[in-house]
Amino acid sequence: MKSRYLFLIAAFGLIIYQSCTSSKKATAPSLSAVSYDKDIKPIMIAHCTPCHFPDEGKKKYLDTYNAVANNIDDILKRVQMPQDEKGFMPFQLKKPALSADQIALFETWKSSGMAE
Ligand code: HEC
Repeated sequence: MKSRYLFLIAAFGLIIYQSCTSSKKATAPSLSAVSYDKDIKPIMIAHCTPCHFPDEGKKKYLDTYNAVANNIDDILKRVQMPQDEKGFMPFQLKKPALSADQIALFETWKSSGMAE
């Protein structure tokens, strides 16, 4: 009789222990949200300068959160069109094209509400 209680207490304790440790795992970096500052801005700087950034840029500035968020549809369209088509960005491949992973990051950023 007593040992059955002990077993229940031990099993219950184990369940609580596991739910605590697994909830810690759930906050691992893989689930951290895509944000402009952390993910999007570095890609814009690597691939869209100098043309879209002050001071050298002569084209529409895409150097701030608002500028990128307001133009996200045009940006996504242009980085995914055929590279020899008029309108493709980066313009005339003067910077490397975005990788599929980078484009996916932009898509995730857009669909998750475009965090700053
Ligand atoms: C070498 C210079 C250069 C680079 C690098 C470049 N662009 Fe451009 N961009 C241009 C030029 C020139 C135009 C205007 C021609 C056009 O609209 O196709 C333009 C136009 C645009 C427009 C339309 C702006 C408007 O007036 O509505 C968007 C959006 C854009 N680029 C996004 C990007 C993105 C995103 C990147 C980086 C992945 C990028 N560009 C990289 C030169 C560049």
